[in-house]
Amino acid sequence: MADADTTESKNYQADIPAPNEPFFLKGSNNLDWGMKNRLSQIFNPDSGRTVMLAFDHGYFLGPTSGLERIDLNIVPLIRYADTLMLTRGILRSTIPPTYTRGIVLRSSGGPSILKELSDEEIAVSIDEAVRLNVAAMAVQVFIGGEFETRSIHNMTRLVDMGNRHGIATLGVTAVGKDMVRDAKYMRLATRICAELGASYVKTYYVDEDFETVTASCPVPIVIAGGKKLPEAEALQLAHNAVQQGAAGVDMGRNIFQSDAPAAMIQAVRAVVHENMSPKDALDLYETLKNDGARRAAS
Ligand code: 5RP
Repeated sequence: MADADTTESKNYQADIPAPNEPFFLKGSNNLDWGMKNRLSQIFNPDSGRTVMLAFDHGYFLGPTSGLERIDLNIVPLIRYADTLMLTRGILRSTIPPTYTRGIVLRSSGGPSILKELSDEEIAVSIDEAVRLNVAAMAVQVFIGGEFETRSIHNMTRLVDMGNRHGIATLGVTAVGKDMVRDAKYMRLATRICAELGASYVKTYYVDEDFETVTASCPVPIVIAGGKKLPEAEALQLAHNAVQQGAAGVDMGRNIFQSDAPAAMIQAVRAVVHENMSPKDALDLYETLKNDGARRAAS
């Protein structure tokens, strides 16, 4: 029989208040526990930032350079990423289910590179997203594009579905070929995504006034890496973005098309999570590339 429950045998530590800390991510304090937990699978709670490894390009490009064999080219890199951005086809077929960090699922699609790219629809059901245990659903938003309204509607439907299940939504601002990539456009596109419910927003870094883009967006911003640059320039880009308020990178080609992808993702991590200077990060990249070594966990 259990002992009698007497207050004398317990220690309530009544003089110590329960912690009441704000959640670490911008604009996310009023979200529910499940959503915050999933966002913590994407963003590192210690640095407040993320290195998302993006390899969803095949959803409209097919087997693009560096992604011909995801089992050989990408799986060895996933240990270095905070989260993976990919399609459900690659997730099921190629990513080990023992992977326990966040999954950001490409959730819009339709046209291939051979057609008008902005003509996208929602490409996954919420049942499927729950079944795959994803942390966020990513949807392309084409502000100023031919199918602007539909792409926004795709996002708002995913926000509604995701919010019901505590799954975050990543609004991906896609800039049309003919559009000017400047801070004015990025402010417009990112703010619209946030106003209409995106949990966080992906955009491109711009050289002038990027801090006005991060300042005017009430939820975290991550930047896409964009087309392959020399490693020094890609590290400088990541550094500039986080120093000007980005909460990390969603980087693909500048990692998987690098001469030494494992070295490059570790150098990007150092810039994002440790505020390492681009010069030191380039040295780190060269060292890791030359000796093939793995850096102590960061
Ligand atoms: C493809 C994407 C990519 O995930 C995103 O652009 C990041 O990749 P990269 O760094 O290669 O630009 O959304 O549609």
